[in-house]
Amino acid sequence: MSAVPQSASSPTETFTAGAKIPLKMKAWVYEDFGDVNVLRLDETVSVPEIRDDQVLIKVIAAALNPVDYKRRQGWFKATDSPFPIVPGYDVAGVVVKVGSKVKILKEGDEVYGDINEAGLNNPKQFGSLAEYTAVEEKLLAIKPANFDFPSAAGLPLAIETAYEGLERAGFSSGKSILVLGGAGGVGSHAIQLAKHVYGASKVAATSSTGKLELLKSLGADFAIDYTKENFEELPEKFDVVYDAVGLEEKAAKAVKEDGVVVAIVGPVSPPGFFFVLTADGAYLTKLAPFLENGKIKPLNDPKSPFPFSKVVDAFIYLETGRATGKVIIFPIP
Ligand SMILES: NC(=O)c1ccc[n+]([C@@H]2O[C@H](COP(=O)([O-])OP(=O)(O)OC[C@H]3O[C@@H](n4cnc5c(N)ncnc54)[C@H](OP(=O)(O)O)[C@@H]3O)[C@@H](O)[C@H]2O)c1
Repeated sequence: MSAVPQSASSPTETFTAGAKIPLKMKAWVYEDFGDVNVLRLDETVSVPEIRDDQVLIKVIAAALNPVDYKRRQGWFKATDSPFPIVPGYDVAGVVVKVGSKVKILKEGDEVYGDINEAGLNNPKQFGSLAEYTAVEEKLLAIKPANFDFPSAAGLPLAIETAYEGLERAGFSSGKSILVLGGAGGVGSHAIQLAKHVYGASKVAATSSTGKLELLKSLGADFAIDYTKENFEELPEKFDVVYDAVGLEEKAAKAVKEDGVVVAIVGPVSPPGFFFVLTADGAYLTKLAPFLENGKIKPLNDPKSPFPFSKVVDAFIYLETGRATGKVIIFPIP
């Protein structure tokens, strides 16, 4: 298994900028928290209105993240938006309408982003698993020309989380890192960023047996099979442990005395810190050179893409916890 090569093909022909925007659209919705059975494809959802700082995107591709099913299961119900909810954080598509305070983006721009700035606090009622979605300009970036829409859709939430975690940890050239969950959406980008953007002295990462070669292809100097080895018992310790699995106690044993554990799954005690991504299109813009020169590659799960009609199957698959990289939804009608 290896990182998906970037494709030159760009399915812009699936949408023509300037086309009339309908009043109603197809979207996946749920009106109660629960398992995948709450999901329903609705063909009469109103196309969202845009605010002054937003653009309306014709969605070409979307991607699922664990937060989508945790949200659907009601983990964040105290701070969620009202029903009916259209799920979906990650989007890639074409701008079809701009608000009066939008400064740079214009109709016809091919964009991508994570549409929720604070992912757990009042996430949008109308997400990206729909024909159209309304997004603040600041959360978006221009899609790299060498990425097709499905590959672009898989990047934002995962790569922004990987990047923000490394920044918060003060990661820099010459430091070593252990990435727990290296084959997942976030972990696969943490490996690539640490190696190819920051210039890590050493990158180690964990996965099950069948994914070890993939970790190396992403840039890991050594790959640890967690089904056979206890990484926390290895003599080598790391400047940073990026924990994308939720292994607080073990992670703390693998970090150097003056090192730091980045935790994204649940609260941890020092030297660890937990954070929730603050999505920002500027992260994507900053990383654009590395995406365009091929140093950072998309990693789309080989079972992907799931067509729009198969969103339930895509959720069921993601919820196994075994996806390799991103679960993409494409095409979207
Ligand atoms: N705080 C935040 O802002 C934030 C942002 C993004 C994600 N998250 C959270 O971070 C977690 C990871 O997200 P994700 O998108 O990367 O998930 P994901 O893509 O669904 O992760 C799936 C991968 O996890 C690996 N995995 C599972 N158990 C493992 C273990 N014990 N050791 C090593 N690898 C293991 C699997 O590899 P194997 O099949 O080889 O086990 C699989 O490839 C989720 O809980 C998500 O909700 C938090």
